[in-house]
Amino acid sequence: MSANLAIEMKNITMIFNKKIIANNKINLKVKKGEIHAIIGENGAGKSTLMSILFGMYTPTFGEIYINGQAQVITSPIKANNLGIGMVHQHFKLIDTYPFWKNISLGSEKTYFNIFVNKSETIKKISEIMIRYNLNIDLLKKPINSSVASQQKAEILKALYRDSDILIFDEPTAVLTPQEIEGFLEVLIALKKSGKTIIFITHKMAEIKKVADTATVLRNGEVVNSFNVADTDVEQFAQAMVGRKLKNIHNTYKEIRKDIVLKVENLSVLNQNNHKVEALKNFSLEVSKGEIVSIAGVEGNGQAELVNTITGLSKIKKGKIYVNNHLINKVSISKRYSKYRMSHIPEDRHKHGLVLDSDLINNMVLQDISSNKFSNFGFINFNAVQEYGQKIVEKYDVRNSQSGFAIARQLSGGNQQKAIVGRELERDSDLIIIFQPTRGLDIGSIEFIHSQIINAKNSGKAILLVSYELSEVLALSDRVVVLNSGNKVGELIGKEINIDKIGLMMMGEKV
Ligand SMILES: Nc1ncnc2c1ncn2[C@@H]1O[C@H](COP(=O)(O)OP(=O)(O)OP(=O)(O)O)[C@@H](O)[C@H]1O
Ligand SMILES: [Mg+2]
Repeated sequence: MSANLAIEMKNITMIFNKKIIANNKINLKVKKGEIHAIIGENGAGKSTLMSILFGMYTPTFGEIYINGQAQVITSPIKANNLGIGMVHQHFKLIDTYPFWKNISLGSEKTYFNIFVNKSETIKKISEIMIRYNLNIDLLKKPINSSVASQQKAEILKALYRDSDILIFDEPTAVLTPQEIEGFLEVLIALKKSGKTIIFITHKMAEIKKVADTATVLRNGEVVNSFNVADTDVEQFAQAMVGRKLKNIHNTYKEIRKDIVLKVENLSVLNQNNHKVEALKNFSLEVSKGEIVSIAGVEGNGQAELVNTITGLSKIKKGKIYVNNHLINKVSISKRYSKYRMSHIPEDRHKHGLVLDSDLINNMVLQDISSNKFSNFGFINFNAVQEYGQKIVEKYDVRNSQSGFAIARQLSGGNQQKAIVGRELERDSDLIIIFQPTRGLDIGSIEFIHSQIINAKNSGKAILLVSYELSEVLALSDRVVVLNSGNKVGELIGKEINIDKIGLMMMGEKV
């Protein structure tokens, strides 16, 4: 056993339900003190492998060595005791506990080993927050907080337990570009302080920036381990998806004004702080066959805009029309059915899928009582199955068991692909899209982008909110930039470029 290895996984195989081979004879070696990236397509087996290392699953067979010692890791508590911490792809915070309590849960500072010493606990967390520049309001609860704050809390939770080996499962998928920079600094700081890091990400630039080694998984097997400095992005892409990628781009043509969505002088309160307005007198139109993107730093009113259009939040002032109908007071479900709206939500677990239902059912959620799937109150199960399976297949949802897989059991990226497929394929006039490719692999992003452009070409009106500037650049006919709830300006067609958007995001008029 080589002494410089923090982790060695040997011949790890994980078979779910006696048939799904998520990991197949995987060998992984992680050196002490390195940042080791694990990459691969959605469903390749990354999260499963790390869940095994963290004691959440017992592998069907295989061995694990931590610091050269053979270990059977039967639970996360055992993993913690071995110095392993993990930040999960899907948050495991308790919604109704304040962050400080979530972060310290089970390891709080106490009086006499019994009573939780809140101020000491908060003090310890605050020290970590300052040290790694990870700021959140510790008294707030996850339920009232942004996705990014929740992710930070998860990171703090791992740091709080002072683990030597830290596993990060797609920590940057939910962070904004600005926050990602900060997070990568955190990783580098952790490495400097001697920790060993496993980092799962779909973003090649991040790997190039911080990782020493990258192991590529495909279909549950190791393709290869690369020394990052000697490998270029194309080589990684080729290893992951087994082919060259195309460059998808919207070719702008003048759009005839046939307005589907009209937002007039909209003011909305900030969803985390009802004392301030998140959107101020905001107006916007989206026409048939047009993709309008909202660009801006997260928290500048994007979420509130989407939530009021889809009916999740209240309007303070202003009007929203869809196909010339005022919808201010229309229920959420009617917006989907009668007013022909689709919505790809920001949080796929809260608003996207019924996790304990199978995929086929999830594909017809909003439309089950339409005459496409029901007749006089009787559901046409054949029609439902046929339709559900078609989408699952078209959108390449991996390991879907012909659509009968339970949504919860899919990998994160495959859940996302299913939601995107459902919403793009629905018979709608308007699609509200929030961060559609969050957590998707590069091959899937290419496909989803081409489908969004297809939807536009078929005449749908599309409102896209994305924090990925590359996505905004690839897809938009028009870009509207938001800053502090105000529209800074907009760019059309050939005017759209990254420098202008960047300046406008900081509030400058161009
Ligand atoms: N609890 C489970 N029961 C059944 N199948 C599962 C379970 N967990 C994972 N799988 C299957 O194992 C495969 C690997 O999933 P995993 O979550 O490890 O992928 P991943 O590489 O992390 O993908 P992503 O990039 O989308 O997060 C998937 O196809 C998934 O459907
Ligand atoms: Mg995963």
